[in-house]
Amino acid sequence: MSHESADTGFSTRAIHTGQEPDPRTGSVIVPIYQTSTYAQDGVGGTREGDYEYSRTANPTRTALEEALAALENGRHALAFGSGMAASDAVLRTTLRPGDHLVLGNDVYGGTFRLIDKVLTGWGVTYSVAHLSDVDEVRAAMRPETKLIWCESPTNPLLGISDITTLAAIAHEGGAKLVVDNTFATPYLQTPLDLGADVVVHSTTKYLGGHSDVVGGAVVTGDDDLREQLFFLRNSAGAVPGAFDAWLTLRGLKTLSVRMERHCDNAERIAAMLQDHPKVARVYYPGLAEHPGHDVAAKQMRRFGGMVAFDHVDGEQAALKAAAGTNVFILAESLGGVESLIEHPGRMTHASAEGSLLQVPAELVRLSVGIEDGADLIDDLRQALA
Ligand SMILES: Cc1ncc(COP(=O)(O)O)c(C=O)c1O
Repeated sequence: MSHESADTGFSTRAIHTGQEPDPRTGSVIVPIYQTSTYAQDGVGGTREGDYEYSRTANPTRTALEEALAALENGRHALAFGSGMAASDAVLRTTLRPGDHLVLGNDVYGGTFRLIDKVLTGWGVTYSVAHLSDVDEVRAAMRPETKLIWCESPTNPLLGISDITTLAAIAHEGGAKLVVDNTFATPYLQTPLDLGADVVVHSTTKYLGGHSDVVGGAVVTGDDDLREQLFFLRNSAGAVPGAFDAWLTLRGLKTLSVRMERHCDNAERIAAMLQDHPKVARVYYPGLAEHPGHDVAAKQMRRFGGMVAFDHVDGEQAALKAAAGTNVFILAESLGGVESLIEHPGRMTHASAEGSLLQVPAELVRLSVGIEDGADLIDDLRQALA
């Protein structure tokens, strides 16, 4: 039975695509092929498609890649050792010295650092724009623009961009649209179906889902780009180990049920925060007042598990609230089953201080987990009291 067709349901693909029982033993779960190398038939005798060396390919990683491609409705997926390694590979295959890219004003701080501190040294230039503002994006485009780099929802301000419109603008200008789909996951949004050329993930987050593995992925339908990415990854070596690929694959199997619960809890928390006297503003695309709500409703299945808010009493009060929870754990990262709280200005986005990407000092970010919603609400109420 093939599980690769987009007609097969999401959860069925997550559990079965690329994950047929092992032909030799019947093992229902894809084995962890913890090997660096593979026996060959004779000198130079490997057949097409056979494994040679695990930097190039590994069967556990192949299973993960087939599942990821099926979930994002892309032809090709490549797994990397981290989300940043995946982003780096996309940037270095699509940009050359002299090229320009447009990126969102609250792109993940690590992505901004890579572009601002590494890519520019390599002769690439960039412009920052509010990607939710079509006129601003058009104005930022130049003849040498080769990429628009978009997150939707964004990290940490939960901004929403219209992916279909951004793809059209990119393509009119001869550029590609890359969507970092880490926050939404393919369960909530499939950017390739909306016209994007490339999807990148930090699989460290919801796809792995249990805060126990760092990884990344690129998914695309572009055969040439896939070849270039494969060549670069094999040349530079930013691959995940077999166990890390296996952990991510195990996480993927429960993605749909986890995401439903993340969304249930986040919706309840956003509603509670909206009425809370210590909260000046709630950032959650599921709220009707969110400026991107209609676009999010059009391109997403639900609104995700990330919520942010501004503390009404400023930075010190925000820091105190972030350090004052009992169930929410004060930590960077997101997307695991456990709820996390953090202060982006001092933690995840500290490297953006003083730049165009600086976030509000009174901002608190929540990665809402899948614990009992009532416990999470009680915990936030006591931290804000
Ligand atoms: C939206 C987004 N993209 C990319 C990354 C980088 O991923 P990694 O930490 O797996 O390298 C992160 C990490 O927080 C992220 O939040």
